[in-house]
Amino acid sequence: MTDAARMAISNQKGGVGKTTVAINVAGALNRRGHDVLFVDLDPQGNATEGLGLEAEYEAEPPTLFDALTDHEARDDVDSLVVEHAEMDVLPSNIDMTSVEPELTMAMRGRERLGQVLDEIDADYDVVLVDCPPYLGNLTDNALLAAGNVLIPALAESTSKRALEILFDQIEVLEAEFDTHIRDLGVVANRVETTNEAEQMLSWFEEAFTDVPVWEVRKRVALQRAFSAGSSIFEYEADCDMESVFDDVAAQLERQFDLVEVTA
Ligand SMILES: Nc1ncnc2c1ncn2[C@@H]1O[C@H](COP(=O)(O)OP(=O)(O)OP(=O)(O)O)[C@@H](O)[C@H]1O
Ligand SMILES: [Mg+2]
Repeated sequence: MTDAARMAISNQKGGVGKTTVAINVAGALNRRGHDVLFVDLDPQGNATEGLGLEAEYEAEPPTLFDALTDHEARDDVDSLVVEHAEMDVLPSNIDMTSVEPELTMAMRGRERLGQVLDEIDADYDVVLVDCPPYLGNLTDNALLAAGNVLIPALAESTSKRALEILFDQIEVLEAEFDTHIRDLGVVANRVETTNEAEQMLSWFEEAFTDVPVWEVRKRVALQRAFSAGSSIFEYEADCDMESVFDDVAAQLERQFDLVEVTA
């Protein structure tokens, strides 16, 4: 793959909207005319199943597990990529539930995803990596392969600690691998009109002065689109959150110098 913009969608806290944000940012980028590769690095396979790829999640080897752990399988990674109406997908698989210890034992076990992505023949404008809800080899792989991170977080006080832990890990990786992992912004997700949410939005704005803080409100349409296997851009509903995800996509276009395809 040539020089696609790569980004990890990460927060080790569970259920904050990583998969929802990743799918809808992919949908927004697709709507803007960009070719997107969606990598589901979560052994739970929520995105894979959500995008209608249950068969891939349950497929026999070779799968993403093999591409990450075996050099020969890595060379054949192109055969693992499947098409979705809005994006191409490198699906997760049930075997991914046992990949963490394999990566601990492997040589350069935290650089495997980067090597896998380098082997992909097709050209994409953007690669999005949906991360699992814990810190470990997979999340390290995503952060190192992407070098950029978009962070979904709930507008709840528990997010402060979650972000602190994530940034600590990013610092560890930066020092260990002599690299820079850029924070692309925070997506405050599932926001409701409560005092706690208002206070947390102010906190996000104060804590993240250099990067955008987007606000995605709680919307049933996001759940319905997910159940229908697509982003809200493809799903037949006029959801007012489309404009937020479109803003994220527009910012990514600027950040990565993506050529604007649509007017
Ligand atoms: N803005 C929103 N409005 C309404 N529901 C939402 C919103 N964002 C996410 N959800 C719902 O919240 C649940 C968790 O979201 P999601 O799966 O995207 O989080 P996640 O961080 O990927 O979870 P995990 O940590 O398990 O990977 C899902 O049922 C999803 O449909
Ligand atoms: Mg998820």
